Amino acid sequence: MPSRRWKPMTARSCCTVEGQTVLGTLSRCRPSRSEFSKKVAELPSFRRLSFSDLSSSSSARFNNEDLAHSIGAGLYAFQLSELRAITHDFSSNFLLGEGGFGTVHKGYVDDKMRPGLRAQAVAVKLLDIEGLQGHREWLAEVIFLGKLRHPHLVKLIGYCCEDEERLLVYEFMPRGSLENHLFRRMSVALPWNTRLKIAIGAARGLAFLHGAETPVIYRDFKASNILLDSDFTAKLSDFGLAKMGPEGEDTHVTTRVMGTQGYAAPEYVMTGHLTTRSDVYSFGVVLLELLTGRRSVDKNKPKSEEKLVDWARPYLTSSRKLRFIMDPRLAGQYSVKGAREAASLALQCISPMPKDRPRMPAVVEALESLQHLKDMAVSCGAWPATPISGRTALSAKNKLEAMADTRRRPMPFRLS
Ligand SMILES: Nc1ncnc2c1ncn2[C@@H]1O[C@H](COP(=O)(O)OP(=O)(O)OP(=O)(O)O)[C@@H](O)[C@H]1O
Ligand SMILES: [Mg+2]
Repeated sequence: MPSRRWKPMTARSCCTVEGQTVLGTLSRCRPSRSEFSKKVAELPSFRRLSFSDLSSSSSARFNNEDLAHSIGAGLYAFQLSELRAITHDFSSNFLLGEGGFGTVHKGYVDDKMRPGLRAQAVAVKLLDIEGLQGHREWLAEVIFLGKLRHPHLVKLIGYCCEDEERLLVYEFMPRGSLENHLFRRMSVALPWNTRLKIAIGAARGLAFLHGAETPVIYRDFKASNILLDSDFTAKLSDFGLAKMGPEGEDTHVTTRVMGTQGYAAPEYVMTGHLTTRSDVYSFGVVLLELLTGRRSVDKNKPKSEEKLVDWARPYLTSSRKLRFIMDPRLAGQYSVKGAREAASLALQCISPMPKDRPRMPAVVEALESLQHLKDMAVSCGAWPATPISGRTALSAKNKLEAMADTRRRPMPFRLS
């Protein structure tokens, strides 16, 4: 069962069934004009946006025009009507997936839409922002991804901010999320070298964030936020929970506890103290998911196996024990030394004490050194391989399955 992000519990609109947004063409019922949207419309104000705006309630006051001036070069401000047109009115036929904050649809932009914008496929995320927290997450995404550019961060192309509507337009990632590849029943098993490539790419993305002048703490590192390009290059998406790291003498920032069950570092959950080492812990959990093919939390497993970290920890110390927990879908096709080193790295990353966890550049280096190992384990059976086709919008059958998977997820919640 996939883990879900903790988010503030708020009353859902009339379009929800058992807490899930009903999908279809976008005629989602919204409350006529919420107090929030009135505030936005009444209080347009122009000034330069900065990371500090994320912590103030005044961040609700911006609109498309303000953002266009503030974020400046690099991001396009789209009209809702344009995004409606390119996604065929947010048709379910163009649905790529659904997260805790809304649906993601495929669309195509052409080079006539804006000067400098090249024709390409895009992913349009339609946020179900209910109140200021949702708006703040949208704004965090625009501010962080508007400024940060790296080969292992997904590229934000533009945004839309009209009345209560908040949308984000990203480069389209043809192979979707790591979560889909690792856990969806219909997916083809990822080979060992591909898993390693994904781990390295995601680690480089985190190392880049942590190495920024003022470090950025990503706070929501998990398999569903690692998106894959056609050649399985990993890119981090979803900066809604990202936070600027501590400055000067400070060792941590204190925040409300938000994130995803099973991935969040224990000390952060207990105290709200957030450091870059909290991201390292989450990285360790994803590394375990890559090794074992198991979800960070799986309520379908016996109680003792529900939490991946607790279940896997005793097996990570030797190759002999490790083979019992390696993903059966690898069918024994992995480097024994590589798996042992990766398991030992994962063990360090999930250390209960943050100071015992390695820093991300060291993680990148350790993983890179495993790429050329060729000592494959003896095959213990072949996984039925089917050709991997390029991912476009979900087929009708896959879409049904994807929706069923989404509904099986536990309801989001937040600890604070
Ligand atoms: N740029 C993109 N290109 C292709 N598919 C995407 C893109 N962005 C998101 N998706 C698809 O949409 C799905 C939903 O993404 P979203 O970020 O909304 O939710 P999530 O990460 O699954 O959950 P959460 O809300 O907890 O972050 C992803 O799992 C992925 O399959
Ligand atoms: Mg996501």
